[in-house]
Amino acid sequence: AMEPAEVSRLHALAYLQCALGFLGSLLLRQAASSYGRYASPGAAFGVPARAAWALQELPSLAVPLWVCARTAAERLRRAPNRILLAMFLLHYAQRSLIFPFLIRGGKPMPLYTCVLAFTFCVYNGYLQSRYLSQYAVYADDWVTDPRFLVGFCLWLIGMLINIHSDHILRNLRKPGETGYKIPRGGLFEYVTAANYFGEVVEWCGYGLASWSIQGGAFALFTFCILLTRAQQHHRWYLEKFEDYPKFRKIIIPFLF
Ligand SMILES: NC(=O)c1ccc[n+]([C@@H]2O[C@H](COP(=O)([O-])OP(=O)(O)OC[C@H]3O[C@@H](n4cnc5c(N)ncnc54)[C@H](OP(=O)(O)O)[C@@H]3O)[C@@H](O)[C@H]2O)c1
Repeated sequence: AMEPAEVSRLHALAYLQCALGFLGSLLLRQAASSYGRYASPGAAFGVPARAAWALQELPSLAVPLWVCARTAAERLRRAPNRILLAMFLLHYAQRSLIFPFLIRGGKPMPLYTCVLAFTFCVYNGYLQSRYLSQYAVYADDWVTDPRFLVGFCLWLIGMLINIHSDHILRNLRKPGETGYKIPRGGLFEYVTAANYFGEVVEWCGYGLASWSIQGGAFALFTFCILLTRAQQHHRWYLEKFEDYPKFRKIIIPFLF
């Protein structure tokens, strides 16, 4: 069983993550979002896009595996804990092992952004996996609870929207191209940042299914960071393309 000191540490880490999300969307606005189309071309210490994405997201996969391998991971004998951890790992297997190699003409990632993302993935990988493997206690029938079922479906739908939308963005470029076009099709008909919308839905689903401060904190953090960047993208498209569809919202279809 876990020591009370570690239980309070996992709670403190979750609250800190919420604070970092708000802080990130205010103070770190520049640093957190200065990659891709906003990276200054001459910037020193750019990490090639593929290497950057693979390396910076890998801790969200490696840290949980390390956490579970080196301890008894008592709670992983229970189905809810195992499914929730698998949801987290599946996303990051996609993000760090597949997504980087599909990128077309990605701009080098500023080293600073890459280090921030890496640090976040260590932090969050530890928080989610340690919580689920050592601490979280669910009733035996949690997997049939409406919160789990709805959360799981949102997670799955969100992930599919995210992957599909990133696929649409990628295919705007022919091999070798690096420019930007107006995205068409899928949820891009409704929002500028369809890929971010998917990612937010995905982690909100995970937060709901895990019914924990730790899961909720990650969803909130994601929302704060991606909302900021979605607003930036939206302004950028409106400036760059005169014929940008006026009907499109920023990140949430029909709403915002
Ligand atoms: N959980 C989190 O907190 C978090 C934080 C950040 C990102 N993410 C996820 O990571 C993934 C990538 O994020 P991102 O910020 O790099 O997304 P992004 O800015 O939308 O760019 C995604 C990719 O598509 C290209 N692209 C975007 N718009 C384009 C256009 N109009 N025409 C042609 N190509 C275009 C980009 O090229 P360029 O690189 O050349 O611009 C980039 O390779 C997303 O799935 C996002 O949800 C998650």
